[in-house]
Amino acid sequence: MATIIGIDKIGFYSPEYYLDLTDLATARQVDPAKYKIGIGQDQMAVLPADQDIVTMAANAAAQILDQADRQQIDLLIFATESGIDQSKAAALYLQELLQINHQARAFEIKEACYGATAGLQIAYDHLAAHPTSQKVLVVGADVARYGIATAGEVTQGAGAVALLITRQPRLLGLQQPTAYYSEEIMDFWRPNYRDTALADGKFSTAQYLRFLDLTWQAYRAKTGTQLTDLTAVLFHIPFTKLGLKGLRQLTTDLAAATKESYFDYFQQATGYNRQVGNLYTGSLYLSLLSLLDQQQLAAGSKIGLYSYGSGAVAEFFTAVVQPNYQQTLQVACHQQQLHQRQRLTVAEYEQFFMQTGLTDDHDFQIKRQSPHADFYFAGQTDQRRIYQRKEPVK
Ligand code: CAA
Repeated sequence: MATIIGIDKIGFYSPEYYLDLTDLATARQVDPAKYKIGIGQDQMAVLPADQDIVTMAANAAAQILDQADRQQIDLLIFATESGIDQSKAAALYLQELLQINHQARAFEIKEACYGATAGLQIAYDHLAAHPTSQKVLVVGADVARYGIATAGEVTQGAGAVALLITRQPRLLGLQQPTAYYSEEIMDFWRPNYRDTALADGKFSTAQYLRFLDLTWQAYRAKTGTQLTDLTAVLFHIPFTKLGLKGLRQLTTDLAAATKESYFDYFQQATGYNRQVGNLYTGSLYLSLLSLLDQQQLAAGSKIGLYSYGSGAVAEFFTAVVQPNYQQTLQVACHQQQLHQRQRLTVAEYEQFFMQTGLTDDHDFQIKRQSPHADFYFAGQTDQRRIYQRKEPVK
C-alpha cells in the first residue's frame, strides 16, 4: 500500500462566550446587514480571562488524543501570533498539560495566519523523512483582537484547532507538491508593545486576493491541476465574505452550472467560522472541520486549501478525502460546544475584552469562568503563569 501522510484527527475549542453581531451593530450604529452580509459573520467568540492560547490548544487537543497518541507524538508544533512569552514556547506548556512524550521536539512558530500551515507542511516532511516517527501534533491557537469600536472589531474571534498528523490518516491525505509565495508587505501586524493588531484593512484584503492568484497559478503550473479537478476549495477565513471573494475570483471562468457546487460547499465550509469569527492561524482548519462535519464528501474527493498569513506568506495545496472519514469525526461534540456557549451583552463583551488585555508583572488569580473547559488559566505567581485542569487527562 502506498504511504499517505495527512490529517488523522481534528480537535477544536472555542471560548464559551460569544457576542451576537446584531447586538454589536446596534451598539456601533451600523446596519446589521453590513456585518451579516457585507462581512459575512453572525457571531464572534469572546475570550474570558481564564482562557489563553495554551488552554484553548489543550482543550482542543485533549478531545482527540488517546494514550497511544501521547506516547507516539515526537514532534509538537504550536502555531500562534498571540504568544504569551517572547522566549518560552507555548508548546512546552501544552506538552506538560497533555502529558505528551518527552522524547519529542516541541516549539512555537509564527507567521500570522499562515503559521499552522507551515506546521502542517513541517509535519509532513518530518514523517516523510523519518520512517520511525509516527505522529506529529500541530496546533493553531489565537485571539483575534483589533480593539473596541475599530474597523476590525467585527472580525475578531478566538479559538484553537489541533491536527494529529500520521501515516495512513483517516481524514485527509496531503498531496505534494504545493505552491507558496512570500513578500514583505505591511497589511496587518502587531508590534511588541501592542495587544491589539494594526491592519491596513482594504490593502490586506487586496493582498489576500493577489496572493491567491499567485499561488493558484503557481500550483496549476506545477501540477497541471484544473479547478474542476477539485471538489471544493477552502480558504483562510478572517471573515467569510473574504473567502467568498476568493472563490468568486477562482471560479470566474466557470459556467454557472459548474460554479454552483463550489458555492454550496463554501456555505458548508464556513458554518463554524460564521459563529466563531477569526481564529487567525486556525481559521482555515476550522473551515475544513466545518466542511468535513457536514459528511457530504465522497472518498477520493480532492480539496484545495488556500492559506494566507499577513506580512505575507501564502500557500495553495490539496488534500484527498479518505474512505469512511465520517467515522473519525466528533460532530456532536463540536456542535454541542457551540450550542452551550453563553451570549454576552455588548457591555459584558467590552468588560471581557479589557480583562484579557491585562499584562504586567504582579501576582494575580483568575476566577474560573469556563465551566466546560478541561484546562484553564488560573493566574500568575512570581511572574510564572499557572495552568490548571479540571480533571486528569484520560
Ligand atoms: N448591507 C450589506 N452590505 C453592506 C452594508 C449593508 N448595509 N454596508 C456595507 N456593506 C458591505 C460593503 O459594501 C462591503 O462589501 P464589499 O467588500 O463586497 O465591497 C463590506 O460590507 C465591508 O464594508 P466596508 O468596505 O465599508 O468595510 P469596513 O471599512 O467596515 O472594513 C474590513 C472591513 C477592511 C474587513 C475591516 O473589518 C478590517 O480591517 N478587518 C481586519 C483586517 C482583515 O481581516 N483583513 C483580511 C485580510 S488579512 C488576513 O487575512 C489575516 C488575518 O486573518 C487578519
